[in-house]
Amino acid sequence: MDFRSQSAALDGLATQAADALVLVIAGQVLPQGLDSAAAALIKDAIKLGDFELKAGQCLSLLRPAGFKAQRLVLVAAGAATTKAAKAAVAAGLGQLKGKGAAHAAIAFAGFAAEQTEALAEHAVLAAADAVYVYRHTKPSAPAPGKLAKITLLADKDQAKAVKAGLTRGQAIAAGIELARECANRPGNYATPSFLADQVRGLGRSHGLKVEVLDQKAIAKLGMGSFLAVAQGSDEPPRFIVARYEGAPKTQAPVVLVGKGITFDSGGISLKPGAEMDEMKFDMGGAASVLGTLRAVAELKPKINLVVIIAACENMPSGRALKPGDVITSMSGQTIEVLNTDAEGRLILCDALTYAERFKPKAVVDVATLTGACVIALGGVRSGMYASDDELAQSLSSAGDAALDPCWRMPLDDEYEEGLKSNFADVANVGSRAGGSITAAMFLKRFATQYRWGHLDIAGTAWKGGAAKGGTGRPVGLLTHFVLSQAR
Ligand code: BES
Ligand code: MN
Ligand code: ZN
Repeated sequence: MDFRSQSAALDGLATQAADALVLVIAGQVLPQGLDSAAAALIKDAIKLGDFELKAGQCLSLLRPAGFKAQRLVLVAAGAATTKAAKAAVAAGLGQLKGKGAAHAAIAFAGFAAEQTEALAEHAVLAAADAVYVYRHTKPSAPAPGKLAKITLLADKDQAKAVKAGLTRGQAIAAGIELARECANRPGNYATPSFLADQVRGLGRSHGLKVEVLDQKAIAKLGMGSFLAVAQGSDEPPRFIVARYEGAPKTQAPVVLVGKGITFDSGGISLKPGAEMDEMKFDMGGAASVLGTLRAVAELKPKINLVVIIAACENMPSGRALKPGDVITSMSGQTIEVLNTDAEGRLILCDALTYAERFKPKAVVDVATLTGACVIALGGVRSGMYASDDELAQSLSSAGDAALDPCWRMPLDDEYEEGLKSNFADVANVGSRAGGSITAAMFLKRFATQYRWGHLDIAGTAWKGGAAKGGTGRPVGLLTHFVLSQAR
């Protein structure tokens, strides 16, 4: 998709050449300053009962009188928020789906000038989402339409803001696309080695330092917990470390850690069969930190970023980890494995210990960690945990700005009770109640040397049902977070 910006006043829309002009209108009354041809047309459409200034309303017109554009798509946003604007752009572009329009121009009316940058960013994200189709193992998937070029129209004095929004939107869109593409690939394609190759490829194209550790190197580091999960599978594990250096080496980096379980069968604590296919998405955390790395590498902020991915399969076999086994983590803490399906925390704890060597400014791990988080927050907000309020605030604001929201969850000491073991320093599961929190409490034991945040994305990383597929979340949140740390 080709994105550009163009200066155009709202009172000159009729002269705008495009296959389709998408006009997003906020508010309940027609905004001032609109093109007279557009204003007349909208008033007429409202009078005739074909259009209302109400969120979700859409009217598509072919060869509208007085317009240079071949199609006019009117979309009402309702509230003048970026969230409403993004939904409206998605609805407007939806009208062009499967149609002949290749070039769409988008204009916003009824919004404040300060919103321009965010509007541009989210228009790009809505457009990128509208044209994404998974093809890798389904080349016959129908094309979404002819749409190939988007021009964002805005007042001349908004040009800088539009550019900034476009740039950020395109980088995040590229990151989201990479994350979705990796997540959607089946487990027999998206293996730990595949993830390593993806990171290596990104390293080559964007000048990043990449290190991939194999089983032997992982063992040498003493990652007994990570390797215990990997040992049941014939697919070899990979521990992947990539570094983006945008600031002097002396500056402490932000570290992102992704859970990369490329298939979670549950191991010996085998999962039930229904929807087990969706456990190919259990590398959604890894996919999102990879996507974020791509977005950041394209935006080149003055910051140092380290991305760590622990990747392996969780499988049952004669060599697999068993309930009751006690393993020794890289931190030295012993862990009694009461349930081999609580494997995410077992691979993340060693990655969190490894992260200490970077003397980080903050570490945020991202994981499709618990079914309990899906019950708690559903698919709207990711579960967010943080060891300090300032970090929590940064993650929360980043999520809001990215329209990729999260919700802070508690870390009271009492929640650790259930993790007591008679045979090891800690057990890997507690009671079923508060399952997302106990998982976070487990990780917290390994994140004592730095400011730590944790995102449980079990409910947000993918969608089930007819629209089954990776969402690319939380690439938006993480990219905004990393950018916020550069300032
Ligand atoms: N990958 C799953 C979590 C998950 C389950 C994400 C369903 C999305 C949908 C994780 O490894 C897991 O199996 N967690 C267990 C933990 C339990 C054994 C304490 C769970 O949530 O059931
Ligand atoms: Mn599991
Ligand atoms: Zn899992």
